Amino acid sequence: MKVSFELNGQAQSVEVQGRSLLVDVLREQLGLTGAHVGCDTSQCGCCTVLVDGQGVKSCTMLAGQAEGCRITTIEGASTPALHPVQVAFTECHALQCGFCTPGMIMATISLLERHPQPTDEQIVEGLSGNICRCTGYAAIIDAVRHAAKLMAEARS
Ligand code: FES
Ligand code: FES
Repeated sequence: MKVSFELNGQAQSVEVQGRSLLVDVLREQLGLTGAHVGCDTSQCGCCTVLVDGQGVKSCTMLAGQAEGCRITTIEGASTPALHPVQVAFTECHALQCGFCTPGMIMATISLLERHPQPTDEQIVEGLSGNICRCTGYAAIIDAVRHAAKLMAEARS
């Protein structure tokens, strides 16, 4: 079947199988390998992308369900300047191996869309679907706080 959606601001049509997962179509057919596959149990969150602005694990969504949706991957987060969340993750040293980072960043963008000034509880809840095996999370939480500040400054 053919599925059409907006991908990182551009119209996109792609032929997919009925059982194709969005993450596989993004990575294998469209060459966007920033959404990582870190598990086969829908738990790691490394594959998180934005679907109509909401963070979604792209391994849990059939590509056919993307019809008419607005999809943003980590490749589309920068414009081309780094997104403030990317800047904050860099400045706060919130990554080590980096495998979880694209998913963490997309989940953070989604979180800050819902909660521009998140409490620590909202940060923990917002990233609860994303697993990092390296950092211990403290630097990631710092980065989310810092990103919120950077984005507030940019709005003022
Ligand atoms: Fe682990 Fe999608 S690959 S949640
Ligand atoms: Fe290695 Fe998060 S930085 S898994």
